Amino acid sequence: MLPIRILALLLAIAPPVLHGSASAQMPSSSADFGRFLYQSNCAVCHGMGGKGDGPLAGKVDTRGGADLTTLAKANNGVFPLERVYQVIDGREEILLHGRRDMPVWGTTFLERIASEGTIELPWGREFYVRVRVLALVDYLSRIQQR
Ligand code: HEC
Repeated sequence: MLPIRILALLLAIAPPVLHGSASAQMPSSSADFGRFLYQSNCAVCHGMGGKGDGPLAGKVDTRGGADLTTLAKANNGVFPLERVYQVIDGREEILLHGRRDMPVWGTTFLERIASEGTIELPWGREFYVRVRVLALVDYLSRIQQR
């Protein structure tokens, strides 16, 4: 049977993922899974507003543009959804190009999910990694400069 905690989590994350960027105006920030994930994992380097000004920004090599609000602008106004997904997950990129300064979130999320317990997860662990990366992609698509 599905543990209640996971069911609640799935219900909480469904709206931003399913409705996409345009209509994902959540009533409060606590209901916005992508925003929650961003603030707790990414803001330390990329800044609370995504401008690349987090407290660790000067400590790591930020070449390649750690400003995440100009991804669409830099791509002729189109948010580069698939590339952003791959950069965040990172596992494929590491295979192709070797090490990088940006953490490999696909691996990190997988390890966290694995360490959360021994329960059998429906759809396998990879599904939960994808949901997290997708929620982040969705959030980033909503903070793009016009
Ligand atoms: C330890 C600091 C650090 C953290 C934490 C971090 N990043 Fe990054 N990120 C970087 C750096 C540095 C780059 C620039 C590319 C490189 O050198 O690897 C980058 C690049 C990116 C890019 C590509 C930007 C572009 O211009 O193409 C995206 C998208 C991104 N990060 C998203 C995220 C998300 C989402 C999270 C949280 C889940 C996150 N980052 C957490 C350091 C970090």
